[in-house]
Amino acid sequence: MKYTITTPLYYVNDKPHLGSSYTTIACDALARFQRLNGKSVLFLTGVDEHGQKIERTADGKKLDPQIHCDQITEKYMYLWDKLNISYDRFVRTTSPEHVSLVHQFYSKVLDSNDVYMGRQSGWYCVGCEEYKEVDSNDNNPICSTHKKELEWRDEENLFFKLSKYQEQIEQLIQIDGFISPKSRRNEIINFVSKGLRDFSISRVNLKWGINVPGNKDHTFYVWFDALLGYVSGSLFDQKSPELTDISLANWPASMHVIGKDILRFHAVYWPAMLISAGLSTPLSVFGHGFLTREGQKMGKSLGNVLDPIKLLEYGGIDAMRWYLLRDIEFGEDGDFQLRRFVDIVNSDLSNTIGNLLNRTITMSKKWFPDCIPIDNPSEIQSSLKELSEVKIKDYMSSFNSSNFKSAANSIIDFANSANLYLNDRAPWKLIKDISKKEVVAQDIYSVLESCRIIGVLLNPFVPDLSLRILNQLNIEAISITFENSLGWGLLNPKNELENPTPVMNKIEFNESLI
Ligand code: MSP
Repeated sequence: MKYTITTPLYYVNDKPHLGSSYTTIACDALARFQRLNGKSVLFLTGVDEHGQKIERTADGKKLDPQIHCDQITEKYMYLWDKLNISYDRFVRTTSPEHVSLVHQFYSKVLDSNDVYMGRQSGWYCVGCEEYKEVDSNDNNPICSTHKKELEWRDEENLFFKLSKYQEQIEQLIQIDGFISPKSRRNEIINFVSKGLRDFSISRVNLKWGINVPGNKDHTFYVWFDALLGYVSGSLFDQKSPELTDISLANWPASMHVIGKDILRFHAVYWPAMLISAGLSTPLSVFGHGFLTREGQKMGKSLGNVLDPIKLLEYGGIDAMRWYLLRDIEFGEDGDFQLRRFVDIVNSDLSNTIGNLLNRTITMSKKWFPDCIPIDNPSEIQSSLKELSEVKIKDYMSSFNSSNFKSAANSIIDFANSANLYLNDRAPWKLIKDISKKEVVAQDIYSVLESCRIIGVLLNPFVPDLSLRILNQLNIEAISITFENSLGWGLLNPKNELENPTPVMNKIEFNESLI
């Protein structure tokens, strides 16, 4: 079964920050989860390179816009690599393949008679690349997101007949699960109920964009260009993508993951454009919250960003991925706090999981140096076996509703229980009685088997740590799926365990490092 997931295509006005890393890490976790679920995943990410914002940034640096885009794009690719983002395709909106696709798409929209020339006047935010609704008495309006003055525009633009799709969009947004989380759905229902207005899809006096065929002074509005990146990325043959091949591609997207500020574009404008061009609409859109710092949205334009490279160097990839997914309620805003970051990572990954594995392997190697003397591991009756079934079920349903926090809690609860189990059973006491050796073997096996399951469940969150855990248990992780690895008793007691080394080092709190 196919599963296509996308991140937004990031503006290349500046290097990536923690907010953009957050969305991409979340998508990566979902992509990995679906792969482990046996789905054929297409994971798309990329960059949005056109428009006034980018043109001005390049101008400010006295750089050719393409050179500027190349430089920033490289930084995105570098960071995704460092964060072990398992994307399948990286879309660039300046690529010739994408440009060709935009032209093909536009011609379909023209065929549907959905484009006309009109006049657009209003207040524009270059940061958002969007016209804003402003109180008519306000002569000096400010963008609430970017805290910058809006610019007055009055120009001839091509318009897309969004209003024609009122009914279809109303029906679409009512579909259960189309917009998540539920709280954001009402906001869109409200917006649509006021009546959809046609929007302009071209700009004049803007060179840095894709030319509009037949209208030589116009370039496409950056959103009419960027959203199509999802389609160009989905087409198999990136060299010459043909819209007519869309039925062969991984389209429609199963889920667009985006921030709440661009939900309207994805849940309203985009589906209408797709319907107009005769393409299927995405199956779902998830609008997550903002990462804040000191309560303010972290953003390139606001200058309060946290450099993900610095955080990576400071805490490491597993720490960063774990903290963002485990501590912040996906869908809600979340404030980054270094103290919490350090505490959570040390407590969950080093203490609860790392120590559990370490001490259990140590005991196992000491008392059963050759192998754990067990014949039928799947038949061992242990409270951990039952608990694993419950926790796996919780984890699956949490992940299926993109609730990372709750999925992470299932893992930690399970690891806590395994620690308690060890403490209760106290094998270090039992082993002194030779007649109890069999019981000790069963207990040790049960805890190691729990560690194996924990290692598998951690994979979408922290793939590197997951591998280290499985390696210590001498398990080949490459061909793992949930189906072939979540049953009880699959750890071979004859596996020679690796010498225990801490799988997760503790982080020292040090504010000056980030
Ligand atoms: N280029 C458009 C998206 C086009 S998609 C076809 C864009 N780019 S952006 O770089 O400004 O933002 C990309 C994403 O990053 C958005 O989903 C936005 O919500 C998200 N974030 C920007 N700042 C963020 C935080 N501080 N926290 C979390 N996400 C943030 O919009």
